[in-house]
Amino acid sequence: MSILKNRFQYKKYTIDKKLCYFKPHATKIEKSFSEEIIFGLSLKNKMVQPKFFYDIQGSDLFDKICALSEYYLTRTEIEILNNIREELTITLDSGYRLVELGSGSATKTRIILDVLNKIQSKIEYFPIDISEILTESSEILLDSYSNLYITGIIDTYEGGLRFIEEYDDKKNLIIFLGSSLGNFAEDDAIHFLKQINMTMKRSDLFLIGLDLVKDKKILDKAYDDSQGITSQFNLNVLQRINDDLGGNFDLNKFEHHAFYNQELQRIEMYLKSKSDQLVHISKTNTDVKFNKNELIHTEYSHKYTVPQIKKMMNQCNFKINNMWFDSNQYYCVLLVSKF
Ligand code: AVJ
Repeated sequence: MSILKNRFQYKKYTIDKKLCYFKPHATKIEKSFSEEIIFGLSLKNKMVQPKFFYDIQGSDLFDKICALSEYYLTRTEIEILNNIREELTITLDSGYRLVELGSGSATKTRIILDVLNKIQSKIEYFPIDISEILTESSEILLDSYSNLYITGIIDTYEGGLRFIEEYDDKKNLIIFLGSSLGNFAEDDAIHFLKQINMTMKRSDLFLIGLDLVKDKKILDKAYDDSQGITSQFNLNVLQRINDDLGGNFDLNKFEHHAFYNQELQRIEMYLKSKSDQLVHISKTNTDVKFNKNELIHTEYSHKYTVPQIKKMMNQCNFKINNMWFDSNQYYCVLLVSKF
């Protein structure tokens, strides 16, 4: 796709000298949400894609998940990032702009911004996120860094990456944290990594965090917490369908169902219908029928072994520059570049 074609699909909103964001024309997003929801719910094995979790409510609930004691991922990744500050400062020179896939928790972004702050007089940050929450978190960041310039892209990762590739020739440090790659099916993860690789210049760097295979008990608890926050997070996607598409899902008639599938090395998350029921979605004029115990698949979260990660990176044309772990080997962070 040419630069002009792609750029023309975005509208630029300038807040001030330090903050602007790009958003695809409204019809593009709305159409895809309703189309994808209706498509997913019409399948024999019903599904809703996990990217739809993150409306304002969902992003809020996800922040709560990150603070749960059972959800070790966030704090472990933060611990690793904190430990590698020095090394990153040495590795990065002054030319890198920060591009983040999923604007993520401010804590992690701040660690990287702090590193850049040491070596740059002007920091450029391009968060890519499907959720408008990006604009809120950006304003907060601007209060803490006087030399920060933010260009937000409210779009899918694919759209955002294409946008960045066509934007200019500056060097990018792309970060993809939180083991979000795990959401993709195996083949799709490979495809996505290759896509990232192809949009990168030789001098670009890619920092990715991945969750590792571990004891099933630990994994089960991380995705089915005792306070029921993950359950709220999962059910919230039905609320979103109600709000945005005029659905009449009764959230009391569905339940959170999540477990670690050891053989396939992934968390599987579903919403389970507690009874036979019919749901109407008025904006699209569709009826969706559920049998008792029928599942809507909402998320996979794949876990990896170190050899699998090495193989995957190699297969996607990435050279591993560094690989860091926490003391329990629960999680790993990699810095890679193009071969
Ligand atoms: C943000 C996709 C990495 O899979 O661990 C947390 C989302 N889902 N609890 C994950 C999530 C349920 C999270 N990712």
